[in-house]
Amino acid sequence: MISERNSVLHSWCVPAQWQAPTIVGGRGAHFWDADGHDYLDMSSLSECSNLGHQHPAVVKAILEQAERLCFITSAWGTQPRAELAEALLEKAGFEHGRVFFTVAGADANEHAVKFARQARGLAHGWIITRDRSYHGASYACMAFSGDARTHHQVDPELYAVAQVASPYAYRCPFASSSEIECGQRAVAAVADEIDRKGAESVAAVLMEPNAGTNGIVPPDNYWPGLRELARSRGVFLIADEVMSAFGRCGEWFAWQRYGDAGKPDLMTLAKGLTGAHLPLGAVVANENVARRLETQMLFTGLTYCGHPLACAAGMAAVRAYEDEELIERSRRLGGAMLVELKRLQQKHRLIGDVRGGHGLFAVMELVSDPVSRAPLAPWPQTPPQLTALVQKALARGVSFAVRGNLIILAPPLVIEERELSDALAFLDRLISEIESA
Ligand SMILES: Cc1ncc(COP(=O)(O)O)c(C=O)c1O
Repeated sequence: MISERNSVLHSWCVPAQWQAPTIVGGRGAHFWDADGHDYLDMSSLSECSNLGHQHPAVVKAILEQAERLCFITSAWGTQPRAELAEALLEKAGFEHGRVFFTVAGADANEHAVKFARQARGLAHGWIITRDRSYHGASYACMAFSGDARTHHQVDPELYAVAQVASPYAYRCPFASSSEIECGQRAVAAVADEIDRKGAESVAAVLMEPNAGTNGIVPPDNYWPGLRELARSRGVFLIADEVMSAFGRCGEWFAWQRYGDAGKPDLMTLAKGLTGAHLPLGAVVANENVARRLETQMLFTGLTYCGHPLACAAGMAAVRAYEDEELIERSRRLGGAMLVELKRLQQKHRLIGDVRGGHGLFAVMELVSDPVSRAPLAPWPQTPPQLTALVQKALARGVSFAVRGNLIILAPPLVIEERELSDALAFLDRLISEIESA
């Protein structure tokens, strides 16, 4: 079996240092390599394999669609695209809205911004985002993102993007004394920024409503606060649901935790949309935005907008979430996981904060001192202890994801309860080993 080691430029690493096994198969929460080593996936790869690996119904739908029709551009109609658009609008409660299909999350965010600007009649309207966030790695998405790894590559102002401080309650940039206060002040910071620019020149606020790669889980009052303020100023609210949707945060879409008080004007999807069986992204626009866009020329497109194979996978994925009650399952297991992680926090001085748990997504933040909250390594560096933890776990067949000082727990929603509790018990032991080293 040949390795990709000397031929592929891998992402988010020094390619010459890349060294990883060749994966040849998977099932449920597991995948395995060419040498027969099995790995329990505690991050759904990049928080995208929500349905587990090789979900039989999704694989079947792809095969059947491949037999019928692999591809047709969006100049023509096709059944899987129509069905999936209807299903997404129905799940979101976006009656009379419209869906624009993309290939992944970054192009979905770029298009959501394009559409918000067009619908507001502000071709260069300001977009307000957060200084700690992740929206993708294309140039415009690097400008939207507050990501310490890429901020030197792009000047957000050149993209008419203004970034504001984040609702990071554990290290609140507004020096708040409670989560709720941090949420309030973070919303006020968005309001101030809109007012400074002038609401008539701001097209949209683009933010992650819950889970995000940068490890922020906002306080409960944050998203409804943003909804309220965007509406009161006539600015669109875009929810980047690329990671947080399809059960990851215990709802179809994370904003649904707040009901109508959290309903955005546009939302972007990818990852769990097909459970990562094929690449697919989407922008879902509500009726108001759809009405403004549908009678204008849309000067945009992607060759693979709504690729039939990907849409067939998306439709099978939606059915699987429904039939297997995976959204509810994620909410239940996520709650139990949070309880266990909080117990570990009581036990280990190394664990400064635990957040999330609305579904199977939680963040553990490691510190060198729980009182001063001194980070184990300066953000965004990953401390050597965590790199070693990941290696040790892999050698024992468990794949954990880490970012900086954060351990991000986001297993497939189909993970067996026993597998989850064993993995958390294993993590407990690995953290004990770091503490006693
Ligand atoms: C919240 C969020 N938005 C956007 C993206 C970008 O998606 P993609 O990598 O599919 O372009 C990601 C990817 O991790 C994400 O987590």
